[in-house]
Amino acid sequence: MPFVTTTGMFQSAYAGAYAIGAFNVNNMELIQGIADAAAETRAPLILQVSAGARKYARHEYLMKLIEAAEADTGLPIAVHLDHGEDFEICKACIDGGFTSVMIDGSKHTFAENVRITREVTEYAHAHGVVVEGELGRIAGIEDDVNVSDEDAGYTMPDEVEEFVTKTGVDSLAISIGTNHGAFKFKPGQTPRLRFDILDEVSARLPGFPIVLHGASSVVPKYVEIINKNGGAIADAVGIPEDMLREAARRAVCKINIDTDLRLAMTAGVRETLNNSPAEFDPRKYLAPARDYVRALVRDKIVNVLGCDGKA
Ligand code: G3H
Ligand code: 13P
Ligand code: ZN
Repeated sequence: MPFVTTTGMFQSAYAGAYAIGAFNVNNMELIQGIADAAAETRAPLILQVSAGARKYARHEYLMKLIEAAEADTGLPIAVHLDHGEDFEICKACIDGGFTSVMIDGSKHTFAENVRITREVTEYAHAHGVVVEGELGRIAGIEDDVNVSDEDAGYTMPDEVEEFVTKTGVDSLAISIGTNHGAFKFKPGQTPRLRFDILDEVSARLPGFPIVLHGASSVVPKYVEIINKNGGAIADAVGIPEDMLREAARRAVCKINIDTDLRLAMTAGVRETLNNSPAEFDPRKYLAPARDYVRALVRDKIVNVLGCDGKA
C-alpha cells in the first residue's frame, strides 16, 4: 500500500472524537519504536519530518525507512512535512513522495500567510497531496522553530473562515496555549489551554480538522530517568494528558509529539550508559532507547489519542 493522505484519517477521527498522533522522526530507532507501537495497537500513523530532521537524516534515507515501516506493519501511514517555511521546501517534499505538507506562514501578515499558503495548496492539490496551514503563533524554541513568548499569539477565531476559504487548506493548526519544547509553562504556573478559542474556531468551521502543535506532555517518568542518570533538566512542564484527551474529543484530529520522543530516547541512552560505563556498542544503548519510544507511543495511542484499533 502506498502512503496515504490524512483525509480519511481526519474524517474518522473527527466523527469518532479521537485524534491521530503525528510523531516527529529523524532516525531508524525512532521510526521502528513508533511503528512497532502503532502495529501493536492497530493505530493509523502520521510520521512527520521537520526541515532540520530532513537535513540531518536526508530525504532519501527517511523515505526508505518509512517505506520499510509501512511494509513491515501494513498500517496506513501519512508522511508529513512539519513547519515548512516556504514554497520550495513544500514542493521538494511533494515531489519527493510526502503525502501531506505544512506551510507555516504564521510569522507573516494575514495577507502574506494567505498568499504563500495558497501557492502551496494549488501545487499540492494538483499532486494529490494535502496541506496544513497555521493561524496564530505557537511559542517555543527548537532547531528550526523559534518563537518567543512575546511573539506568540492566540488564533483569532474571526480570521479562520476567510483563511480556510481563501487558501483551500485541508487542516488548520491553531494556537490555544500549547508551546514547543520541554518548558511549556513557567514553574508554578497552572497549565491552561483556551478551549473557548478551539470551540469558537470549530463553530465557524464545522467538521474541519484542527491540529495541535507543541502537545507533548513532557512525561515525568522520562525526565526523572534522565536526571537520575547524569542529566540536568529542571522545570520541564508539558500539556496535561487530560487536556489532550479533551482536545481530541473536540475538533482536534492531529496531535504533534516530538519533545516526548526526544526525552524517551535520551532516557534510554543515559540510563544504559550510566549503568554500564564500559559499554560502547551503539546497539546496546539504542535498543533500550527504542523500547522507551515504543512504550511512550503505545501509551499515547491508547491512553491519550484514543486511535487504537482505528487502522
Ligand atoms: O515543531 C518543531 C518540531 O519539534 C521539530 O523540531 O526543527 O528541532 O526538528 P526541529
Ligand atoms: P512538542 O515540542 O510539544 O513535542 O511539539 C512538537 C510539534 O509541534 C512539532 O511540530
Ligand atoms: Zn510544531
